[in-house]
Amino acid sequence: MDRGKESQQQPESATRSSVNANRKGLTRRQFLTYVLGGTGAFMGATVVSPLIVSAFDPIHRGGSGSFSKTNWKVSDFNDKLPTHVTFQQHIDDAWNSQDKPNDVYVITYQSKLMIMSHTCTHLGCHVNGSIQNGKSVAPEYGGGKEWFFCPCHGSQYNIYGVPTPTSPAPRPLDLYEYKIDTDGSVMVGGTISRTNSTWDVNPNPPIQA
Ligand code: FES
Repeated sequence: MDRGKESQQQPESATRSSVNANRKGLTRRQFLTYVLGGTGAFMGATVVSPLIVSAFDPIHRGGSGSFSKTNWKVSDFNDKLPTHVTFQQHIDDAWNSQDKPNDVYVITYQSKLMIMSHTCTHLGCHVNGSIQNGKSVAPEYGGGKEWFFCPCHGSQYNIYGVPTPTSPAPRPLDLYEYKIDTDGSVMVGGTISRTNSTWDVNPNPPIQA
């Protein structure tokens, strides 16, 4: 009798245990699902969010200031000596969009403008041109051969911004891109780096003086 009850109770007990085990297993599975799902979502957000931020970052804004309008005309310049001129340069960097004063030296060469940066290619000082009373004069440096002089470490450059072989400056002054607006004024863009052997390579458009 007792054995019979036992034999009847065992399956019931085993069934309960199985149900409990299943319940525990299901709970664990759910728990793991939640953990793995949460981890995956977190990692996904970590990867995707910088891309979203980047997409709206100002560095990706369309730059209205790629070229800055000046009041110069091509006829303001000549092929004899650089002319020192200033302008408001529109700058779009990562977080700012603003106008900043800038100054450059401009000479014509082979029917194009060479708009030369004032920044020495050695360590970035502002070079001086051969200028007296606001007017360009014959080269004053290097025994009357060189037109630009850098006061920091003595680099000297000719009228096209090419450094002398003994100057610490490793390469010519950078050129600026330009284009001519419909009203004939010069618009200045970004800079172009030159080497001593490619100093006369100028990708800018020809001018009609
Ligand atoms: S920064 Fe011009 S020579 Fe050094």
